[in-house]
Amino acid sequence: MAPLPAAKSADDIFATLEGFAGRDADWRSGRTFAYVYDPGADVEDVAKRAYMRFLTENALAPGAFPSLVRLENEVVGFALNHLNAPEGASGSFTTGGTESCLLAVKTARDYARAAKPHITRPELILPTTAHAAFHKAAHYFGLKKVLVDVDPVTFRADPAAIEAAITPNTIQIVASAVSYAYGVLDPVAEIAAIAQKHDLLFHVDGCIGGFLLPYIERITGVAKPFDFRVPGVTSMSMDWHKYGYCPKAASVVLHRSADLRRFQFFACAEYEGYAIVNPTILSAKSGGPLAAAWAVINYLGDEGYLRFVRRIHEATQKVMAGIQAIPGLQLLAPTDTNQIAFRAEGFPCFHLVAAMKAKDWLIQPQFGAAKNRDNIHLSIGQSNLEHVDAFLADLAACTAALQGTKVSDAVLAVRAAAAGLGAADMTPATLLRLLDIGGVGPGKKPSSAAEMDLILDALPPKLAEMALTDAFSRLFTPRR
Ligand SMILES: Cc1ncc(COP(=O)(O)O)c(C=O)c1O
Repeated sequence: MAPLPAAKSADDIFATLEGFAGRDADWRSGRTFAYVYDPGADVEDVAKRAYMRFLTENALAPGAFPSLVRLENEVVGFALNHLNAPEGASGSFTTGGTESCLLAVKTARDYARAAKPHITRPELILPTTAHAAFHKAAHYFGLKKVLVDVDPVTFRADPAAIEAAITPNTIQIVASAVSYAYGVLDPVAEIAAIAQKHDLLFHVDGCIGGFLLPYIERITGVAKPFDFRVPGVTSMSMDWHKYGYCPKAASVVLHRSADLRRFQFFACAEYEGYAIVNPTILSAKSGGPLAAAWAVINYLGDEGYLRFVRRIHEATQKVMAGIQAIPGLQLLAPTDTNQIAFRAEGFPCFHLVAAMKAKDWLIQPQFGAAKNRDNIHLSIGQSNLEHVDAFLADLAACTAALQGTKVSDAVLAVRAAAAGLGAADMTPATLLRLLDIGGVGPGKKPSSAAEMDLILDALPPKLAEMALTDAFSRLFTPRR
């Protein structure tokens, strides 16, 4: 056994940690459009104080830490009120959107086992814009996922296609309010009516948009019912750690009734230790995120959030108009909230990511070349508002400079090779062959990050998943 490192002073440790963080995204600069939701220094300070106060308290044990029960009941209650849940509705605090989505599907699976025991191969209907968390849920919980393409013009889920995909094995339908990829709200009322007609559970994923939509409704005066006001919506997810501006890990999963929520829980009295009841996936967990969420919600309050969402809305409208005015860029769909997807005409848009990175902007590539939907994603936050003009000026300059950049021969060759592949070809050997065609392999690197993204986007999804898994497996190589 090799010994652990020799003890160091706190000063040494923090100096080393700061060194590690030196290359991280500078998310307090107002120049990042993904991954972090920056509420400003005062909110950050409140969150950190509350987080540290409850860092060590363990949410596993309500008897030992009744404070955490109180905090959770209040934070879930705020969410139920925000999303117009009826009396008797219930929910749980979770560690993030993915856990909330996983639990919504786990609930549906266990409900179906009880209420529809004849279903042995349960199916989950997912519009292609439903978040990857639902694919993960189907994978983890043994459900067959049935993918339904969205409308090619509006990018909203297509109710008729969803109804056509229902089989006797369907147990749940998912819709987004809004989708991460395009920021559009699915036709929740129409899908809910279909779910009711076929006696199915219906989850509305409001992880990214659910918190904003009621405020946008107040700002614009335009109501687009998407929440528990719509009969037939049986569960919802909403992240506090996105536009609730709480630190990670903070989300909620909500159910129309406490009876339905029972199927989310896991209890075990069969092993020879303490009895377990886990409302959510983790067992022991820090009280920090919950306390921080409670503190931020109370600190910002309704007025603070309204102020933030006005800023988000203003920044989003400016960015949308600005992109539409840049020759060579094309907005995919007008957003219902603050997610923007745009493409480039005349060059592969992924090159913009590197060009903008060189100017210290962080934007995100989204795959979709097979459907001509590869695009750039922006999630606009309140901290971006003062930087919108500078962003648009740099975006226009980068777009002009990139005009005429061609898709490389290597990428075209990968696309051609991928076109003829079938299910039996989804193997590591095929992946190696395609990467080799693309100029990637031992001793061979793509010419740029954009080139690598273009190659990944040219691969069939199964092979891209394999390539990404390989890459992460190499990245997370333990240092010993
Ligand atoms: C609509 C939607 N659902 C679920 C998730 C997953 O959330 P998380 O990253 O917090 O796990 C996201 C993340 O962006 C999302 O946009």
